[in-house]
Formats: sequence, structure tokens, C-alpha cells
Amino acid sequence: MKETGTKIWAPQLKQMKQRGEKIVMLTAYDALMARLLDEAGVDVLLVGDSLGMVVLGYETTLPVTMDAMVHHTAAVTRGASRALVVADMPFLSYQTSVDDAVRNAGRLLQQGGAGAVKIEGPAFETVRRLVDTGIPVMGHLGLLPQSVNQLGGFRKQARCEDQAMQLIEDAKQLEQAGAFSIVLESIPDELGRMASEAIGIPTIGIGAGPDCDGQVLVAHDALGLTPDPVPSFVKRYAQLGDEIVKAAQAYAQDVRKGQFPQR
Ligand code: KIV
Repeated sequence: MKETGTKIWAPQLKQMKQRGEKIVMLTAYDALMARLLDEAGVDVLLVGDSLGMVVLGYETTLPVTMDAMVHHTAAVTRGASRALVVADMPFLSYQTSVDDAVRNAGRLLQQGGAGAVKIEGPAFETVRRLVDTGIPVMGHLGLLPQSVNQLGGFRKQARCEDQAMQLIEDAKQLEQAGAFSIVLESIPDELGRMASEAIGIPTIGIGAGPDCDGQVLVAHDALGLTPDPVPSFVKRYAQLGDEIVKAAQAYAQDVRKGQFPQR
């Protein structure tokens, strides 16, 4: 059991892997949820660009802007005291040039207060420059939601051997470029295990099997706030969406019958 209130820094995740301690990560997009998840002892809060789909009502993560990410990251850092806050770099904030990547990642730390950023894909040169600038980087391999149009939907990745070997190679190169951990999304369980054994930095899986060094879920999926269907790897730990509907219905009934407020 870790002391509450002791802030977690990016390099500590590697030490957790070395100690065989599983890393617990959930998404958060606002200060209220960040405070609750931090209080629960979650190690890493990811301000994912899933923000676009989960709370802003978009079909994909592509419309999420840098300004939105800075705004929500700042809210999450205001709510968190112990957890490491990792902010996603949104579509087109790091693909255009390495200089753009440094400038935009810098905003997430400087204005958002994040402790690290996450970028999708084998962007080794960008990772190297960010790390050289003093910005810790979490990689992301497997299903890359920002490439959904090229992938033809949100489907499992690296199912054939060539792609699996390529993913392991990419993971090794991300480690060499200085990434402090890597999210593995929607890949076969066996590949999740192989990739985790092949590198010294921790892997954090989402739909990548039980042998990753940590796990991440979209908090709203795990808490039962998002409607069905959710991906098959999601476990619902609560049904808060149903509770909210019931509570709002009870309030509406009270108001309509003149039972709230009481005299
Ligand atoms: O944006 C996000 O929430 C993510 C997780 C799915 C890992 O990248």
C-alpha cells in the first residue's frame, strides 16, 4: 500500500515494473472525477483525447484540439494530488513537425500542469526531442484511434506474425528513444505478454491481456456511465449511468408533485 499524498513522477513507473507492482491507470477529463480517482489510489490519470468521444459527443478523437486538451488537463491537475497526470497530444499537434510537437507538449506541461504526454505510433524522432527537452513521453502502439480512418474502424490490431514482430520492434525503439512507458491497445493477449517481456519500461494494456505491466480503461466505461455497447475487454465496476437516471427521475417526480422543496 502506497502512502496517499506522495506524488507519482513518470520515472517511478519503471521502478514499479521492476518491483512487479501493477500500474493502475484510468482516464479523467475534469477536476471532480480526478479528485475521486486520485482518492481511490489510481496511479496514473490519463487525460485521453477520448475526451472527444466520451464527454464532447464526437464520433472519433480527431476533432479534439490543443486548446481543449490544455483546458481539460488543467482541470484534472487541479483535482489530482498524488496521481501522475498524463495528457494526450491530439491529432495534428505532433505529426506536422518535431518543433510543433515540442511547442504543443510544452503547453500541456506549462499551462495544463501535466507530468507527461502521450503520443500515438512509432514517432521515434519526436519522442527523442521531447525527452531531450525534459518532457516525459508515454508511447501508444496497437490500435491507434487517431488513425481510425486508415485502419478502417476500431478493430483489433497486429493479428498476423509480421505485424506482431513489427509492434515488438516499435516498442523497443520507443524505449530507446526515451519513452517511459507504452500503452498497448487492442492487440492479442499473447502479444501483450511478449511485448511486455521484450522491454524494460512498463506496458499499460487496454484490451491487450493480463500480462501487461499495468492496465488502463476509460473511467466512464468502467463506472457504467457510457451506454452500451462498449468494447468486449471493458469490465463494468458500477452502473452509475442507471443511478443518475433514477436519481434525476426521483427529483423530477418530487418537483412535479410539489414535494421538493419541503415547506
Ligand atoms: O484517449 C484515451 O483514452 C486513450 C486510452 C484508450 C488509452 O488513449
